[in-house]
Amino acid sequence: MHLATTGRPGLSRALYEEIRTGIADGTYAAGAVLPSTRALAAERGLSRATVTLVYEQLAADGFIETRAGAASRVASGAASIHRAGQPTRSPDRPGTGAPPSGRLSAIGRRVAAMGTGLPLATAPGEIDFLYGPLAGSDFPTLTWSKALRAVERQRVRRLAYEDPRGNPELRQALQVHLGQTRGLACTADQIMIVNGSQQALDLCARLLLDPGDRVVVENPGYRAAHQAFMAYGAQLVCVGVDGHGLKVGELTGVGRAQLAYVTPTHQFPLGSFLPIARRRELLSWAGRTGAWVIEDDYDSEYRHAVRPEATLQSLDTWGCVIHVGTFSKTLSPQLRLGYMVLPPSLVEPFTNAKRLTDRHAATGAQRALALLLEDGSYARHVRRMRRRQLARQRALMQALAHHLGDEVEVQGAASGLHVVVWWLSLPKSVEADLVRASRQRGVRVYPISPLFHPVADEMSPRRPAGLVMGYALLEDEEIREGVRRLAGAARSLKAGMRLWPASGHSEASTS
Ligand SMILES: Cc1ncc(COP(=O)(O)O)c(C=O)c1O
Repeated sequence: MHLATTGRPGLSRALYEEIRTGIADGTYAAGAVLPSTRALAAERGLSRATVTLVYEQLAADGFIETRAGAASRVASGAASIHRAGQPTRSPDRPGTGAPPSGRLSAIGRRVAAMGTGLPLATAPGEIDFLYGPLAGSDFPTLTWSKALRAVERQRVRRLAYEDPRGNPELRQALQVHLGQTRGLACTADQIMIVNGSQQALDLCARLLLDPGDRVVVENPGYRAAHQAFMAYGAQLVCVGVDGHGLKVGELTGVGRAQLAYVTPTHQFPLGSFLPIARRRELLSWAGRTGAWVIEDDYDSEYRHAVRPEATLQSLDTWGCVIHVGTFSKTLSPQLRLGYMVLPPSLVEPFTNAKRLTDRHAATGAQRALALLLEDGSYARHVRRMRRRQLARQRALMQALAHHLGDEVEVQGAASGLHVVVWWLSLPKSVEADLVRASRQRGVRVYPISPLFHPVADEMSPRRPAGLVMGYALLEDEEIREGVRRLAGAARSLKAGMRLWPASGHSEASTS
C-alpha cells in the first residue's frame, strides 16, 4: 500500500517526514511509543486512514514497529537508517527514491507537517465561539487614531533603524506599567518589544533549544507554543494540570529539562491559577536543574474573580524566568505587539536574534502605544474591556445554566476570555459530532481534544466531551442565541446515541 493513494498526499508526506526527521535527530528515541493513529489524526485534523498509511510506510521503511493491538514504537536502530543516508521512498513518489525538488530543512519539514491551523471563515449569520479574536467594536479607534496622528506630527530628523529591543519610550512606559499592574521588577533594558508573543516563543525556541532537548509543557496546553518548540526538534514532556494549574510536584520525576513553558495566571485552556507555593516550587526546580521558565502572561488583565498573584518573574532569584506578554487581548491581535522581559543574561543574545530576524518591531504603532500608556488612556481602556468581557461571560454562564443546567460543568471562569465547558453526559469520542451538529445549526464551537497531547489524553479514555468557548467576539444576544442552538444540537446528538453514564469524570475538572 502506498501513501500516494491517500486523499491528501502533501500532508501525508509531511507527516511521514516529520516523524522520520524526529527519529533521525533523536526527538523520538528507539522504543518510544508513538501516539495512536486515532489520536494523531484528531490532533492534526487528518483522516485516520491517512495516519495509518503513514505508519505503514514508516514500518515498511524500518523506522517504526507496529503490532496489532499494541502501540507503535520507534524501531531500534531506526535513527541510523536515516543518518546513513539510505534512499527512502518519498511517500508521494513511492518506490522512486527520487529526492524532492528543493529540499526543506529539518525545521522546514517539521513546520510543514504542522499545517497552518487557520480557522475556517465563518458563514454569514454563523455564531462563532472562537477563542482568540476580539470584537472590532471594542477597539479604541478614536484614541488610537489620535495617538497615531500625534506620532506622525512629531517630525523626526533621522529615519533610522531603532534598537532591536524596540522603541525606548515604549519600553520605559511599559516598565512603569508592568511594575504597577504585575509587580514586575525589571529595568527598561530587559524589555524587548516583539511582534506578538508568538515571536517571543519562536525566539526562545531558537535560542534556547537544541534538537532532542526536553521541554516541560502543560497538558492540555497552548498548541502554538508547543509547535514552536517542536519545530526546533524539542521533545515535549507533558505534565498534567489540575484545578491549581501545573502539577508541579510531578517535576521531580521529570529529570533534566532545558525549558518549562507555563501559563500560571490563567492556565490555557483550563483556566486554573497557579498558587504561590507551586510558583516557588516550580522556580526552585528550575533553579536546581538549570531549566529556563517561560511565563506566558497572555490575558492577566482579565481577572474577574481572583486576586493578582506575584508573577514568576518577580519571584525569580535564579535569573531563569522569561516573562512574555501581549497586547493581542486588550487592543487587537492584528497589531502584533507583545513584549518579553528577559533575565539580564539573555538580553544580549535575544537582542541580536531580534536584529537578525526583522531588525525591530514597526516603530509608529510602538510610539502610539507609548502615548496611550503615558497619558492613562490604555489603563482606562483596559478597565472598560474588563467590564465588557465580564458582561459577556455572565451572558454565557446564564445561557449555559438556563439551557443546559447540570448537563455541563464550566471550568475556568475566574479570569480570561474563554471558559471550558464539559458535557458530563457525552463521552469525548463524540466531541467532533457535537461540533458538526452545532455547525449544522449555525454555531461554531471548538473541541478541547486537540489541546491535549495525544498520548497523555489516551490515559483518560473516560473524560467527557469538552469545548473551549471564547466569548470576546460576540454580543450578549448572540451568546444567548448561540447557546440555545448548541443545546439543541447536543439534544439531537444524544437522541441518536446510546446514553453514556454520567459518572464522576476525569482529573481534568478538579477546580
Ligand atoms: C496561551 C496564549 N498565549 C499567547 C497568546 C497571544 O498570542 P499573540 O501575542 O502572538 O497574539 C494567546 C492567544 O490566543 C494564547 O492563548
